[in-house]
Amino acid sequence: MKIGVAGSVGSDHLMTFPGKFTDSLVAGSLEKVSLSFLVDGLDVRRGGCAANIAFGMGVLGLNPILISAVGKDWEDYEAWLTRHGVNTSHVLVSETLHTALYMVTTDTELNQIASFFPGAMSEARNIELQPIMEKVGALDLLVISPDDPEAMLNHSDVARAQGIPFAADPSQQMARMSGPEIKRLISGAAYLFMNEYELALAIQKTGWTDEQILEEVGVRIVTLGSLGAKVESANSEPVVVGIAQERAKLDPTGVGDSFRSGFIAGLAWGLNHERCAQLGSMLATYVIETKGTQEYHFTQEEFLERFALAYGENAAVDVGAHLVHFGF
Ligand SMILES: Nc1ncnc2c1ncn2[C@@H]1O[C@H](COP(=O)(O)OP(=O)(O)OP(=O)(O)O)[C@@H](O)[C@H]1O
Ligand SMILES: [Mg+2]
Repeated sequence: MKIGVAGSVGSDHLMTFPGKFTDSLVAGSLEKVSLSFLVDGLDVRRGGCAANIAFGMGVLGLNPILISAVGKDWEDYEAWLTRHGVNTSHVLVSETLHTALYMVTTDTELNQIASFFPGAMSEARNIELQPIMEKVGALDLLVISPDDPEAMLNHSDVARAQGIPFAADPSQQMARMSGPEIKRLISGAAYLFMNEYELALAIQKTGWTDEQILEEVGVRIVTLGSLGAKVESANSEPVVVGIAQERAKLDPTGVGDSFRSGFIAGLAWGLNHERCAQLGSMLATYVIETKGTQEYHFTQEEFLERFALAYGENAAVDVGAHLVHFGF
């Protein structure tokens, strides 16, 4: 199965301030703010939704095609993704802009001050799918993950027009998309990924009911945080899958993306939706147990052992048959 993953690539710069931001904010003197916080921790991590999703698929032995706009500074990141099975040959490299960068400082009260520089991501709207497909062949599935909003809408228009099955994954971009834009993105999607909050937001913004949204898409996957995930479609009974128990809860960043990696890998292997959601949940658990979104690793044996523990021997047998290319 030829799968394209469109969306953001970026780096996260996470800093910790050993005090309270609010101690530096003087009530009554907030017209002119000029503050610099002396931080004592800096963590730089690879991120971006498309990169996270493609990485997880690569780790499971697939070879997804990354469709994204990045800066010239992305050489090291590219080498990393290539090493983990991602096809980066069709990425648009900006001549002038830096790869997207997210910078956040967290204080002792877990208050955060953040900035997001989209940089090269704004050029994603110039990406054309047609020339990419002339090289790699028609895609069997296009995943549209958070990106420059115009790029997301373009991709869904092209996919619909050309009959390419697509997965709409608006995630964080739901917040800034209007009702009509959300409708344009998701109608006709083969798969729709959302968490519960995003689904409520979609209902509110589009004016569609829960059922109407379900009728607009083939399969809807709603992640429920620690309660797992629900897979629904208009003409079948919903399937609910629980989480795979985590050994430690270190850092939940990226759980949503890795859930998608596992779910889509299951689709590529022709597994049923229950197995797909179980695979997604297993991968999400690995992410929770590590700091960073692309720092998890496992052997085939260990993965299957934990999978069997969470979902039973039969489930592990179904999945095990496909894990043959695996090994990072
Ligand atoms: N506490 C947890 N323990 C184990 N697995 C979890 C936990 N929380 C979430 N997951 C897994 O991750 C999946 C996605 O989680 P969630 O619904 O929180 O996504 P999200 O809100 O999109 O997250 P984010 O956008 O912050 O990555 C869940 O369906 C579940 O499989
Ligand atoms: Mg999410």
